[in-house]
Amino acid sequence: MPLTGSVKGVRPYQDLCAIVMAAGQGTRMCSDLVKVLHPLNGLPIVCHVLDLCRRLAVKRTLVVIGFQAERVREALGDLPVEFVLQAEQRGTAHAVLQAEPALQGFDGDILVINGDVPLLGEALVERLVAAHHRARADATLITTRLANPTGYGRVLRDRRRAFRGIVEEVEATPAQRRVREINAGIYCFRAPSLFAALHRVRPSAVKKELYLPEVLPIIHAGGRKTGGRIATVLAEDPQEVLGINTRAELAEASAVLRRRMVDRLMAEGVTCLDPTSSHISSLATVGRDTTLCPNVQIEGHTIVGDHCTIHAGCRIRDSRLGNRVTILDGCVILQSEIGDDCTIGPYAHLRPGSRLKRKAKVGNFVEVKKSVIGEGSKVPHLTYIGDATLGDRVNIGAGTITCNYDGFAKHQTIVEDGAFIGSNASLVAPLRIGRGAIVAAGSAITQEVPPDAVAFGRAQQVNKEGRAAEIRKARGKK
Ligand code: UD1
Ligand code: CA
Repeated sequence: MPLTGSVKGVRPYQDLCAIVMAAGQGTRMCSDLVKVLHPLNGLPIVCHVLDLCRRLAVKRTLVVIGFQAERVREALGDLPVEFVLQAEQRGTAHAVLQAEPALQGFDGDILVINGDVPLLGEALVERLVAAHHRARADATLITTRLANPTGYGRVLRDRRRAFRGIVEEVEATPAQRRVREINAGIYCFRAPSLFAALHRVRPSAVKKELYLPEVLPIIHAGGRKTGGRIATVLAEDPQEVLGINTRAELAEASAVLRRRMVDRLMAEGVTCLDPTSSHISSLATVGRDTTLCPNVQIEGHTIVGDHCTIHAGCRIRDSRLGNRVTILDGCVILQSEIGDDCTIGPYAHLRPGSRLKRKAKVGNFVEVKKSVIGEGSKVPHLTYIGDATLGDRVNIGAGTITCNYDGFAKHQTIVEDGAFIGSNASLVAPLRIGRGAIVAAGSAITQEVPPDAVAFGRAQQVNKEGRAAEIRKARGKK
């Protein structure tokens, strides 16, 4: 057994591999989607565990997949993990056993973690590994005490409090069910002891499953030959080892992660007017002196600069906001880039590929898609800008539409610097409006407008003098 003294000194863990169990269906979620892929604050549940393995810098991370294996494989595609297939889900012991061929010849320690414990942190795992080394144990597991232990495996101890084994809830007697100390599903094993014992696990009495915790008494009873020392580490905060089995537990974990993120941001100088309703992805960054109003969702790899204000009810995904940006209420901003000092909303929709340069303004009920809005340009009301490039200091009047789609293909609109588009214009693409040109209100513009020209694309107005009075008289009205 590798004995390496202080844990800090061992990192990165050269003698530690991780097995993450993610093959189960997750029946209690009542879902068409495999449990470990349910999103939790922007990331599949299991990715929270895998990210922990990455931070711990273990030598190798093996993920046991089975139910919807291809979906899981695809979802984790980019991560530095190895996949092990458990074709039939016969229980957690059977899951871990599938990793034996891949770990042939490895005689270090193996961290085995349930794929559904996303709140687990590095410090607790370090305590687990340290305790395992200190006790020169063959197996060490994390336990915790719960006020309501329903659903968890209970820890059985003898009169002298020595560890005896784990009994799953469905297999437990009423007296055993009253035990409040539970198995957290996070273990450290000496590899040879683990695999030797796994081969000897028999199906459980009630569910006929091969339970991983069954290796513990087997290792313990192994006697002189296989060692047999079991150690336990008590997690003080039960929340950290919460296992996600139901949607209610998913919501509970989500609230914890959200709160952790908001606390971190507040510590870094972000004002959160309502921490309970702010949903900030753990991949996002938010700058100093930025204010987040209630019900703001910041998703994915979004970067928000300093001194911004994001008003209530906005959703921002995978976007980059500069400094001093104001987002008024009710905006949706997706994969977009927003320069310094811009103002957006209320109720604006920036679809993917929108780019606002400095001091641009996109106002009430405006939709922008795959377009550039130049420096200081304004699109204040009720407009659609799609597949367009607006130069600097352009003004787009209320109700203007870029007609970018002719029913067959999308076409580009270019509006050069300083152009002024009157209200309710239809700009039929492909189209170029020259620098400094003016488009009259209500125009349908189908041809290029040269620089500094005024374009009228509307019917001539005709006034019939006195006609309104005549009509009223004919109808007998004053
Ligand atoms: C498990 C433990 C229980 C512990 C609890 C902690 C067992 C038998 N019981 O129970 O003692 O208190 O975790 O949260 O281990 N999986 C597979 N293949 C399978 C079955 C499960 O990969 O054949 C995976 C699941 O995807 C999941 C993990 O193993 O990520 C745990 O399975 P789950 O069914 O959630 O176990 P629990 O009943 O919660
Ligand atoms: Ca579980």
